Amino acid sequence: MRRKLAAGNWKMNGRAPDLDQIDALEAAHGDAGVDILICPPAPLLSRMAERARKIAVGGQDCHANASGAHTGDTSADMLVDAGASHVILGHSERRTDHGETDDDVRAKARAAFEAGLIAVICVGETLGEREAANTLDIISGQLAGSIPDTANGTNMVVAYEPVWAIGTGLVPSTDQIGEVHDFIRSKLEARFGEGVGRSVRLLYGGSVKGSNAAEIFAVSNVDGALVGGASLTADAFSPIITALDAS
Ligand code: PGA
Repeated sequence: MRRKLAAGNWKMNGRAPDLDQIDALEAAHGDAGVDILICPPAPLLSRMAERARKIAVGGQDCHANASGAHTGDTSADMLVDAGASHVILGHSERRTDHGETDDDVRAKARAAFEAGLIAVICVGETLGEREAANTLDIISGQLAGSIPDTANGTNMVVAYEPVWAIGTGLVPSTDQIGEVHDFIRSKLEARFGEGVGRSVRLLYGGSVKGSNAAEIFAVSNVDGALVGGASLTADAFSPIITALDAS
């Protein structure tokens, strides 16, 4: 059985007073039957990790190297040192804003595994790619290129995030989500074997909110969500966690 995961990506949002949201989430979901993860911006990470009890804390990126002359970067080991257990890698905003390639993401994932982090590896097509009926080819290439051979259901989570659904309020139909999630599952089973392939958790991400969470969580091979905007407050994230717990 795959344990469900409600993951929040705060992106470049959040300052010390926002740590109160962690207290509120823990009060509301202290005995939830699902895993809860929040990935705050790096400056908030250690303070959030010190405050959180049940909620796991993660980074939003890491460097492929363990240390060295890389101004502005953070290594996987540093995230662990700050209290992180997870790291988001290959988010489309990193791929676009920082030109990250599949090779970069794979190297970062290797570093994350070595440091003992769980990597949440993101894949997803643009609107143009979907309209050109290239979605599954794009996903296939990103999975092959971004995931190291040493990945398994313990050290990796895969997030399907259609680029056109992120922060836009647009959400694919449940059929479209199911098609891609079933496809990702089959690709993982083909590459890693049925046992490992079936153990990897698959998250959907892109404009998930309280009002659409239950129908998304009813889709086959959806094991949770990676949530941006609606993870910033306990009020907005809480109904998503409740829907996941009930699914
Ligand atoms: P969103 O972002 O929920 O604000 O659409 C999702 C993400 O980028 O992970």
